[in-house]
Amino acid sequence: MKTALILAAALIAGPACADTFDEIKISAGKALFDSECRRCHSVDADHASYGPPLENVIGRAAGSYPDYDYSIALEASGIVWTPAALRAWMEDNDGFMPGTKMRHVGIEDRTVQEFILSYLGSITTQDNGAISD
Ligand code: HEC
Repeated sequence: MKTALILAAALIAGPACADTFDEIKISAGKALFDSECRRCHSVDADHASYGPPLENVIGRAAGSYPDYDYSIALEASGIVWTPAALRAWMEDNDGFMPGTKMRHVGIEDRTVQEFILSYLGSITTQDNGAISD
């Protein structure tokens, strides 16, 4: 009986905790994005920025933001921005894609990468098709 109660409590608390964790990850990711990325990347299409806007970037074909003047390397890469590709990019963008005009950012910390991914996920509101991890 006691076990059943604890289980029931865990079931009720479970999803609420997951939501709280997600919110914390998103707000940590936003703070990290603000400090590491936002000076070059606007997140909404109404603001021009040096780099391409990153709203809806997860699942987007690389180099496909309309009217942005990409490097040939990025435009011709043929990759899709999956979470795995974004991690590799944050870790070593110019090693991952020689010839890109984005200056090197070296975010090697997996946790920081995850937080930024959570934030990018929160500003991806459109379904960009099948995404593999
Ligand atoms: C110094 C400016 C600068 C900083 C800082 C910067 N970027 Fe970029 N980013 C760029 C530029 C410029 C491009 C276009 C690169 C090209 O065309 O080769 C780009 C391209 C990208 C792309 C490809 C988007 C697309 O439409 O294909 C992603 C994803 C990206 N950046 C993510 C990030 C993230 C995440 C951070 C922070 C960790 C970051 N960038 C920090 C300038 C920057």
